[in-house]
Amino acid sequence: MSSWTLNSWRNRPILQQPTYMDQGLLQEVEKKLGVYPPLVFAEEVRSLKKQLADVTDGKSFLLQGGDCAESFAEFNADNIKDFFKVFLQMSVVLTFAGGKPVVKVGRIAGQFAKPRSSDFETIDGVELPSYRGDIINDIAFTKEGREPDPYRMLSAYNQSAATQNLIRAFARGGFADLHKVQRWNLDFAHSSSSNERYEVLSDKISQALSFMEACGITAENTPNLNQTVLYSSHEALLLNYEEALTREDSMTGKWYDCSAHMLWIGDRTRQIDGAHVEFLRGVENPIGVKAGPTTDPEDLIKLIDILNPENESGKMNVIVRMGADKVGDYLPALIKAVEKEGKKVLWSCDPMHGNTFKSTSSYKTRDFDKMLEEVTNFFAIHKSEGTHAGGIHLEMTGKDVTECVGGGQDITAEDLSSRYHTHCDPRLNAHQALELAFLIADTLKEAKN
Ligand code: PEP
Ligand code: CO
Repeated sequence: MSSWTLNSWRNRPILQQPTYMDQGLLQEVEKKLGVYPPLVFAEEVRSLKKQLADVTDGKSFLLQGGDCAESFAEFNADNIKDFFKVFLQMSVVLTFAGGKPVVKVGRIAGQFAKPRSSDFETIDGVELPSYRGDIINDIAFTKEGREPDPYRMLSAYNQSAATQNLIRAFARGGFADLHKVQRWNLDFAHSSSSNERYEVLSDKISQALSFMEACGITAENTPNLNQTVLYSSHEALLLNYEEALTREDSMTGKWYDCSAHMLWIGDRTRQIDGAHVEFLRGVENPIGVKAGPTTDPEDLIKLIDILNPENESGKMNVIVRMGADKVGDYLPALIKAVEKEGKKVLWSCDPMHGNTFKSTSSYKTRDFDKMLEEVTNFFAIHKSEGTHAGGIHLEMTGKDVTECVGGGQDITAEDLSSRYHTHCDPRLNAHQALELAFLIADTLKEAKN
């Protein structure tokens, strides 16, 4: 294999990229980003990799989630706080039921670039370039809006930095204190059944904390009780941005993509000889690869060989997104191939991207029951193959949106128009996300018994 350099991806075929009109402006922005401070630190990335190695060995569980696409319009403290709250709730639910530590990774602080099924969108006979995420162009369907603008990378960087800053403050500054477990409940969540389940669970946690305190285990001597870590992740799609934020670690001399702790390659850009695989093979971060129904088991092994030649545990995450009806047909062959070759893989389940459909009210949506079915099948398949169902990858928000149908609130196709705010794919709202966490926790408990 030819040697890797920061820009060796530029000699490879590349899909899903914008065409920037002003190359001079693009270079100017790349240069600026190239000297901006990194958003994450190499040592943090190494810690995440260690924790993901535990997930790979079945000792912990991975909870990864957040927006399909972050947006400039929805950037405010409330949205970050509400996401953080529901993510903490889900994480205690999963920890309590599964009896395993939960590694928390947000699709946040950089999840801006989107692959699209078509390069163009046509509305009423007018054809314009597709929206590719706020880091590239504007969702507004106008000629100016859809023009890719390099300056948007700087706005995305700034938003990611501020988001990362608030997350770190919440995680370390007392917000994530387990003694406040009751206060993570969301204001609008009062009457739901998962809210009631959550209240019962948080009472139990509070009792356990009082007991531990009586035994001398307090936040002062056990910081894990009042601090946590929420790692960041996004799809490494816009490689100009990723290259500019990739830095050589002075301690190890190795390269880290410092735009996020973890990066993944989408289902549409995982070509073995393509630019995305080339770029990501050179960085030390944990790497996810989305695996849809077209993933060939032999190709998956080749991909793993390229991305993780040392077969390092915690490095490789295969994010399975087949769809509830297909996961049984395709996943076993992937697992068998990986097991046969002795590859260390963290398997996680994305029950979102294989279950999208157009509702009768013409909104793009997903059905809660189908997502649950995919998760349940995913766990059952791992059980019968003797492998670990390591984690879950969700598109979700802390807000009370109406984007996915079903769940305890029984959102219908007609309800979708009420609060359909996503810039890309439909997300679970806070109720649905918590409800799904409880149902997954039940599955984790069963798997343990
Ligand atoms: C996504 O995660 O938002 C996405 C586009 O996923 P996939 O590559 O699996 O389609
Ligand atoms: Co999506």
